[in-house]
Amino acid sequence: METNQQQPIKRGEFLRSLGLSSAALMAFYCMGTLTSCSKGSDDPEPEPTPGNLDVTLDLTQPDFKALQTPGGYAYHEDILIARVKNGNYVALSKVCTHQSSTVFYRPATDDIFCATHGSEYTTAGVVKVPAESGQKNLTQYKTSVSGNNLRITG
Ligand code: FES
Repeated sequence: METNQQQPIKRGEFLRSLGLSSAALMAFYCMGTLTSCSKGSDDPEPEPTPGNLDVTLDLTQPDFKALQTPGGYAYHEDILIARVKNGNYVALSKVCTHQSSTVFYRPATDDIFCATHGSEYTTAGVVKVPAESGQKNLTQYKTSVSGNNLRITG
């Protein structure tokens, strides 16, 4: 008796059935995960994820001069650091949760803004004006100051 049932085929078997060489298969596998196939020493740092971030910034460095006065902000890798109106430091992901544009601090309204589609966040990263329903909050990190050093953890 003949049946039309097809057995599931694994991705590697399917690709081999196309006549691809081992090198071609490796290149194919690496296309979607370039970072996992590259182990060079000059690779960029991985994006910090909540729970493993611990950086200390020297606030006297030129990159962070804007943080010397309330209303200023700066970036360190994927982190937005703002010296908010009350003088405290806040650290948030700089990546808008709508479509990944870079957000910035607005001292006039003491909030975080994304100019691409107009999303607004509180200085705690909570969405106030979303560009789309269900938009997520920005990741917020903890900050502490010791002398001229700002430590960001999360
Ligand atoms: S990318 Fe930020 S509001 Fe759309």
